[in-house]
Amino acid sequence: MERALLLDNRYPATHRDAFCIPSFGSMGLRSDAANTSDFSQVTYLCGNSLGCMPKSTRDAINKELDAWSDRAVESHFRHRGEPQGLTSWVDIDLPLSNLLPSVVGALESEVAVMGSLTANLNALLVAFYRPTSSRFKIICEKGAFPSDFYAFFNQCGIHNIDPNEALVRLEPREGETYLRTDDIIQAISENNEQLALVCLPGIQYYTGQLFDMEKITLFAHQFKNVVVGWDLAHAVGNVPVQLHDWGVDFACWCSYKYLNSGPGAIAGIFVHEKHSQVGSGSHKEDSYMPRLAGWWGNTRERRFQMKEVFEPISGALGFRQSNPSVIDVVALRSSLEIIQDFGGIEALRERSLLLTGYLLELLKESKFYHKSLPSGDVSKAGFIILTPLTESERGAQLSLYFFPHHDDRKLDTMERVSGYLNERGVIVDERRPNVLRIAPAPLYNTFQDVFRAVELLKEALQEL
Ligand SMILES: Cc1ncc(COP(=O)(O)O)c(C=O)c1O
Repeated sequence: MERALLLDNRYPATHRDAFCIPSFGSMGLRSDAANTSDFSQVTYLCGNSLGCMPKSTRDAINKELDAWSDRAVESHFRHRGEPQGLTSWVDIDLPLSNLLPSVVGALESEVAVMGSLTANLNALLVAFYRPTSSRFKIICEKGAFPSDFYAFFNQCGIHNIDPNEALVRLEPREGETYLRTDDIIQAISENNEQLALVCLPGIQYYTGQLFDMEKITLFAHQFKNVVVGWDLAHAVGNVPVQLHDWGVDFACWCSYKYLNSGPGAIAGIFVHEKHSQVGSGSHKEDSYMPRLAGWWGNTRERRFQMKEVFEPISGALGFRQSNPSVIDVVALRSSLEIIQDFGGIEALRERSLLLTGYLLELLKESKFYHKSLPSGDVSKAGFIILTPLTESERGAQLSLYFFPHHDDRKLDTMERVSGYLNERGVIVDERRPNVLRIAPAPLYNTFQDVFRAVELLKEALQEL
């Protein structure tokens, strides 16, 4: 504990107070003092699933609720608070162009806030996946988040292509837990003549592997007409990315994990500027990339003319379809302001490496840690780490795989460890049947959080 305290003094969680951290009382947990109204904070290590609520979010949302109740439709164009920095609803998402691009390494014109992750992935696939009879393959993962797989699979149906031929689904080698970059490169190389799209996660949701996005994007782009898209659900706000400089064609993400914008929060897209320019001339419809279109993608002047002319805004904003939820947008804004105040994504990553490095160190010191799954007798409880151990190949999250597994939850190792932690106010993320994902969030977690979680995890395994 001494070391954790020392680290917390040296690298303090300067912005922890900007967040609401659930307490034993609010979670309905009994603390050590067996007092359910205990206001001491739990150890929340689940920011990879749902980030904690910034305290400023409530006020930001309340201001918009006030505007709705007091002025209703007027607030679309004449927000009462506009001179004081509140934006009329018609432009509510535009101020985010000062905050979001630096988080994803994009130009201002390359980012838009809209919809939800899966809806946006589907929209971007409609725009970017243009299979021909000779070029139609999609490189994706075998273990992709199911929503992503459904999106790829459905594209095959939409285009009348056999998914068994079109989907090249990569998986780790036998006995390994994550994909080797070289194997991805080789798959691109081997399939290059028929390859239309490479679409992978920036960070894998299950293993926590951080992909070498730069290398994979640059390699795939050697081949003409290959599009590269990234699902950044677990990467955005977690690790720095340089989408523009790497030449990524498109990316999408959600904002409820490391961007702390609330459950089902408004999501985001990146479209490289090379794809989103709208030409001039009389035949505008031929001068932009066809896409799922809606009035909010239309230029502001056209939007309210109600004419049957779609003339999209140049840039990612031209991919928006609907007017965004004002409540959602201001929730995202209040969270992005905290990230900016912290020093941006590079500063976050610096602290994140220290926190997760400390977590890894403590886990590896434990007698229950195994480098690989023991062959033969696995009756003794233990765990392996699925996530790459090298810093450059992981973000905040470590994924622990527990054994032995038992179909009866009451006897299963992971379930029992998870239950033990939960009862004692350590909130981590379960992936049945074997995995717990632990993600210290650099904005609000402390080294003491990490220490406490590992101590209790060891205690749980000891008790089995
Ligand atoms: C990698 C990945 N893709 C897609 C999704 C689906 O997100 P949504 O429900 O916001 O569309 C998630 C959700 O956690 C995810 O982690």
